[in-house]
Amino acid sequence: MEKRTIIVTGGAGFIGSHLVRLLVNKYPDYHIINVDKLTYAGNLANLKDIEDKPNYSFERLDICDFDAILALMQREHVDGVIHLAAESHVDRSIKDPFTFARTNVMGTLSMLQAAKAAWNGEWEGKLFYHISTDEVYGALQFDGTLFTEDTRYDPHSPYSASKASSDHFVRAFHDTFGMPTIVTNCSNNYGPYQFPEKLIPLFINNIRHRKPLPVYGKGENVRDWLFVEDHARAIDIIFHKGKPGDTYNIGGFNEWKNIDIIKVLIRTTDELLGRPEGADDDLITFVTDRAGHDLRYAIDSRKLQRELGWEPSLQFEEGIRKTVKWYLDNQDWLDNVTSGDYQKYYEQMYKNR
Ligand code: NAD
Ligand code: TYD
Repeated sequence: MEKRTIIVTGGAGFIGSHLVRLLVNKYPDYHIINVDKLTYAGNLANLKDIEDKPNYSFERLDICDFDAILALMQREHVDGVIHLAAESHVDRSIKDPFTFARTNVMGTLSMLQAAKAAWNGEWEGKLFYHISTDEVYGALQFDGTLFTEDTRYDPHSPYSASKASSDHFVRAFHDTFGMPTIVTNCSNNYGPYQFPEKLIPLFINNIRHRKPLPVYGKGENVRDWLFVEDHARAIDIIFHKGKPGDTYNIGGFNEWKNIDIIKVLIRTTDELLGRPEGADDDLITFVTDRAGHDLRYAIDSRKLQRELGWEPSLQFEEGIRKTVKWYLDNQDWLDNVTSGDYQKYYEQMYKNR
């Protein structure tokens, strides 16, 4: 098998940890370097099962630290970058847009500049693969239309505006310097190891503790949900077979109104906890809507299916059941993350170095 050295940024986060696990297990001859700053969203406990593998290493670095990233790329002869590190939560972006511009825009630019300097015009066998979101396309109405790769960018939240900007920079490096780049725009992910500020893990945890479930507005917004391992599998296929310069949309053709998902979450969690049906329906609490709340996201991923043969492997009901079961079986992980204990542990560990 060909040898490769790949940086995965954001590998200690939700999607990044699933991707790192897949690559480390599937490609023993590759060297997978996880570059992560370990913000509140990064947690090395997500990678416990592979942390001792010889083809895996971890570098605690800020993607905005151009000098450190360049030195790493040169020292390790990195030939591929899969860039996931980002601030990722819309509600946080409404409170603190600066952090989103710094990490998502300047951080991506710093990664691009480092790759450009390290590769020095020798593009053969190199790839800069940027992971983005469907939120850059804006919001759809309830009219059956889907986001395609040609949909015009129309971001509404500071999060999606920062991701849109980073996508433009990646394409600009392709068009201006000839850097081999790929951008993919994926729909909402769900599954194990997601930080419990996002809808699905937050609500499973709240149901478990019989805490209110804050439903924004009337719960009528629609999201298109994809199991995280299916996203990681798509990234693997696109990294190896995708066409440089291209964009691919990734989604599950799986649209759900928030309120309907929430009912499935309550039913499944109660059933797995042995509680009677309907026991927790009254936890649903309608609260003030999110500012600028996009009505509907839905992805057309037929290009990826047609050209590279990817399709989602899990039915939603099965994926949700697996997900609820994982959070209930891994209460230590949830308690550790919600208490913030893992952050104190890292701070101590790195202070002593
Ligand atoms: P996450 O918030 O769980 O993880 C982000 C990771 O990036 C964390 O480990 C964090 O420590 C790291 N990070 C943040 N700032 C950093 C910095 N300055 N330097 C180095 N590391 C830093 O996010 P996620 O949900 O796994 O999303 C990963 C990527 O996928 C993001 O780019 C996001 O925009 C994109 N995406 C997410 C979804 C989704 O539903 N979660 C959908 C489509 C696309
Ligand atoms: P989220 O998981 O934050 O993902 P995104 O905003 O990137 O789509 O939210 C998913 C949907 O759930 C979104 O329409 C907002 C809604 N939501 C709530 O109604 N209540 C909540 O507490 C959260 C976190 C989200």
